Amino acid sequence: MTPRLQPAETTRPLCLATALALALALTSLLLAPSLLAQSGEERTYAGREIAGVMSFHGASWLERDSRIEEEDPAALLALLPLEPGDTAVDMGCGSGYHARRMASKVGPEGRVLCVDIQPEMLEIARRLAESEGIANIDYVLGAVDDPKLAPASVDLILLVDVYHEFARPEPMLAAMRRALRHDGVAALVEYRLEGESAAWIRPEHRMSIEQVKKEWLPAGFELRRLVTSLPSQHLFLFAPGEQEP
Ligand SMILES: C[S@@+](CC[C@H](N)C(=O)[O-])C[C@H]1O[C@@H](n2cnc3c(N)ncnc32)[C@H](O)[C@@H]1O
Repeated sequence: MTPRLQPAETTRPLCLATALALALALTSLLLAPSLLAQSGEERTYAGREIAGVMSFHGASWLERDSRIEEEDPAALLALLPLEPGDTAVDMGCGSGYHARRMASKVGPEGRVLCVDIQPEMLEIARRLAESEGIANIDYVLGAVDDPKLAPASVDLILLVDVYHEFARPEPMLAAMRRALRHDGVAALVEYRLEGESAAWIRPEHRMSIEQVKKEWLPAGFELRRLVTSLPSQHLFLFAPGEQEP
């Protein structure tokens, strides 16, 4: 069987009150020595600010026409190691923009799981998919620290413009690693922090290559391919490492 991913490669040179206080103190104790730090409004992880979660009230922005030129979703889809019959996850699916595209790629024998923490987003995604006659998408209400995926059950997890919003990156990374099959792939897409190609996006909603590696490699993922040819985003293809972190 051909492996989904070859060994590491890069496509191009790179170019809340006492109760709250107690709760916060307990949280930081429980999380130590995690990379997560929380103080009042500020939330940081591994030295970066955790971005706020995009509300379902803005879902139409996710369906904007200019996304085609800004992100080239067709090129992204072509780069995903997906086969007909596969089970794919759109993690933090929002309106299901990418879930609908992946549904066509995995075909009628395959499934796409649309995971989000906002039930309203899932409802929007369901309506849009139904309006296009797409029937092979399931909708999963996740929690901030649990995507509610069964162990070793999925071939690919796509994360587009969502990882930087995770309030609890560590349990999410661990759960996604468990959910992937042996030859499964996590495809992380983030607007570039480097350079000007995504300068119109706020910095906390972008990530550098260095920052992604700093967070994903200790979580037991191996970087197999880094794609720098998309217009404004990096695509990282990670395999679950053999070693438990
Ligand atoms: C900026 S939107 C991106 C939506 C979609 N990936 C896209 O590219 O069109 C981020 C989405 O991630 C969701 N989200 C944030 N944290 C999450 C988590 N821990 N688990 C699942 N979804 C999450 C938000 O509710 C929001 O719908």
